[in-house]
Amino acid sequence: MLADKDRIFTNVYGFQPWNLEAARKRGDWDNTKKLLEIAPDDIIQTMKDSGLRGRGGAGFPTGMKWSFMPKEPKPGKPNFLVINADESEPGSCKDREIIRHDPHKLIEGALVAGFAMRARAAYIYIRGEYIREAETMYAALDEAYAAGLIGKNACGSGYDFDVFLCRGAGAYICGEETAMLESLEGKKGQPRLKPPFPAGAGLYGCPTTVNNVESIAVAPTILRRGAAWFSSFGAENNRGTKLFQISGHVNKPCVVEEAMSIPFRQLIEEHCGGIRGGWDNLLAVIPGGSSVPLVPAAQIMDAPMDFDGLRALGSGLGTAAVIVMDKSTDIVRAISRLSYFYKHESCGQCTPCREGTGWMWRVMERLREGNAEVEEIDMLQEVTKQVEGHTICALGDAAAWPIQGLIRHFRPELERRIAAKNGGAAPMMEAAE
Ligand SMILES: Cc1cc2nc3c(=O)[nH]c(=O)nc-3n(C[C@H](O)[C@H](O)[C@H](O)COP(=O)(O)O)c2cc1C
Ligand code: SF4
Repeated sequence: MLADKDRIFTNVYGFQPWNLEAARKRGDWDNTKKLLEIAPDDIIQTMKDSGLRGRGGAGFPTGMKWSFMPKEPKPGKPNFLVINADESEPGSCKDREIIRHDPHKLIEGALVAGFAMRARAAYIYIRGEYIREAETMYAALDEAYAAGLIGKNACGSGYDFDVFLCRGAGAYICGEETAMLESLEGKKGQPRLKPPFPAGAGLYGCPTTVNNVESIAVAPTILRRGAAWFSSFGAENNRGTKLFQISGHVNKPCVVEEAMSIPFRQLIEEHCGGIRGGWDNLLAVIPGGSSVPLVPAAQIMDAPMDFDGLRALGSGLGTAAVIVMDKSTDIVRAISRLSYFYKHESCGQCTPCREGTGWMWRVMERLREGNAEVEEIDMLQEVTKQVEGHTICALGDAAAWPIQGLIRHFRPELERRIAAKNGGAAPMMEAAE
């Protein structure tokens, strides 16, 4: 188990107040001026050395992303940092805990990250439904401005840096980085074609980096404790500590900071009180928020919970929102419900996504009842392949992957339902492999 002394988020459960005074006692804003005396490129190098990979889902190396920003912003084209607090991925609920219980960690992170990238300001884009969280964030920003920590001459460093909070209206697609930029600019939140990438032309056409809340909030601690400390956790290429969010059929669902690469069984035993009904009752797990394929019980038990370990199982770490399903789950219904979500959230720009998500959901609903032909399983698989990789943004992939995972591991269950509907029956629901 991760030792308390190695936790970055020491107030994740809100046992202490979120405010500046309490945050200072936890070590935030501790001589931040000294961090701003480090050369920006050295900060970026430390982030690279730490091995931190983006916590928003895709796992792109954070230090490398920062290094793409222009070192000398052109006049009239300032660099911007955009912090992604949209957190709409089903199962994900970690950024919310940071914002409502540890907002100063995020603000300090914004300052040092912004400084490293020579940014003029940071925009935090928070999902519309996070009303209380937004209130806390506004209040924390007021405190930080009043104390001279951000704004003109931030922390007495001579560097001017503003942090703005912007509330979304509650659309999953606004979590996609370029849709977020459109939304921030006051337009309809629809993803942009890339290139140009945000580091070249982002917010208002200016160089921009978009990072997840957790990626930014861990930055000051990494700088204070050093890259070697952070990279001492987790397996090669999967470094650091990480907030896991475990929901579903465990005895004690929770959000917990743990070392990256912790085996699934250990994570569940040590923090969640085990699987409801015992380990034999586990059916499958969606390990990274709804957008990654499920993994059957036998394969996930001893898997390392990290980017590469889960990729090797044909899934992914995503946001580390671990959705646990025991044998009482109607797995076809569960995946069909996710299909409905993607159909609902498609922005409609690309035909394969706009038409495909609705088509896939309708077939999934029929499969749920067994009201389909066996050949339609292959047809559905083929359509997921026509959507995957053929769209502007990754929502198309996100809609395809859960269905692919279901077909890969639970095909016998789909066939059983069809057979049962046609008169035969075989009441079983175990993963195929
Ligand atoms: C449909 C869609 C929704 C997304 N939603 C979120 C989100 O809610 N929060 C987030 O941090 N990243 C989200 N992302 C990923 C972002 O586009 C982006 O990769 C991320 O914010 C980068 O931050 P990181 O490098 O710190 O991980 C989403 C991506 C897609 C395609
Ligand atoms: S993939 Fe879907 S959500 Fe993404 S841009 Fe295309 S239509 Fe919009």
